[in-house]
Amino acid sequence: MNIIEFIKKTPKSELHLHIEGTLEPDHMFALAKRNNIQIPFANVDEVKSAYNFSNLESFLKIFYQGSIVLVKEQDFFDLTSAYALKCKENNVVHTEIFFDPQTHVNRGISFDTVINGIYKALQKANKEFGLTFKIIMCFLRHLDEESGFAMLDQASAHKEKIVGVGLDSSEIGNPPSKFKKLFEKAIEKGFLTVAHAGEEGPPEYIWEALDHLKVKRIDHGVQCLRDKRLIEKLRNSQTPLTVCPLSNIKLRVFKKLEEHNLKKMLDQKLMVMINSDDPAYFGGYINKNLIACQAALNLSMNEVKTLLINSFKSSFLEEEKKREWISKI
Ligand code: ADE
Ligand code: ZN
Repeated sequence: MNIIEFIKKTPKSELHLHIEGTLEPDHMFALAKRNNIQIPFANVDEVKSAYNFSNLESFLKIFYQGSIVLVKEQDFFDLTSAYALKCKENNVVHTEIFFDPQTHVNRGISFDTVINGIYKALQKANKEFGLTFKIIMCFLRHLDEESGFAMLDQASAHKEKIVGVGLDSSEIGNPPSKFKKLFEKAIEKGFLTVAHAGEEGPPEYIWEALDHLKVKRIDHGVQCLRDKRLIEKLRNSQTPLTVCPLSNIKLRVFKKLEEHNLKKMLDQKLMVMINSDDPAYFGGYINKNLIACQAALNLSMNEVKTLLINSFKSSFLEEEKKREWISKI
């Protein structure tokens, strides 16, 4: 089997995926119509040409704007069902998805509407084709800690649906330490913790996520190679780094895929794997990320296998399940 066929056919796990980032332009249009919501685009082509970003901030503006078409539980259900089908197409058998409740609650949508739509769609996908899943609630780091505490209160009523909490949105100027108390409270309540760190922000933010937020995984983390002591720490602890290559190119963290540091991270024996982040905005789901990276970085079959195995190892699945999937790779 050639390497592309291998990538497509092998069972995969995905650990860094924002459900709002799977809203495809045609779906955005259909929902705008269904909910009678004005969006600043005349057609799907206009949406696509707006997806030309200069950095994280320029993307987030469009990303939050796109989310306003999501209003009813059915919308969140449909969005998540469409992503679940992409999982099936990509042979993703286990996914751990983020959702951003503040994006919705702050415009009058209830927390229950959001979580119930997402959860019911994933349950249906589990029944129909066996997709397993975990849901992680992200706090928007450009907002204050108090707003995060309100979300944590709401999440407590849905504890059986939400495995952990994360941190996303504008990184620079919003260090992990800003949310130390909130994450302490989340841990006390039994949530696992993860955080975006070192996407655009400095290695210090990765240190802070580890030391102050006690994270189990770092989302992105690609800036870690700028700090030798941090590399050693991440290697020794085998802390997972959920790298998103096509996202990094679209948001100009690296100029082109050939310059991405994923292979250097593998060479340093870091616990890295490949994810799609916001695939509707960044040009591709997980297989496309894997295939593009393999070609651009000339990854060997063994390196590709390591990436796929690392993803299961780093997941929040039970150890037995991890072993089962890894034995199939
Ligand atoms: N929200 C959605 N995608 C994100 C990313 N790549 N970084 C930070 N926040 C996000
Ligand atoms: Zn992300």
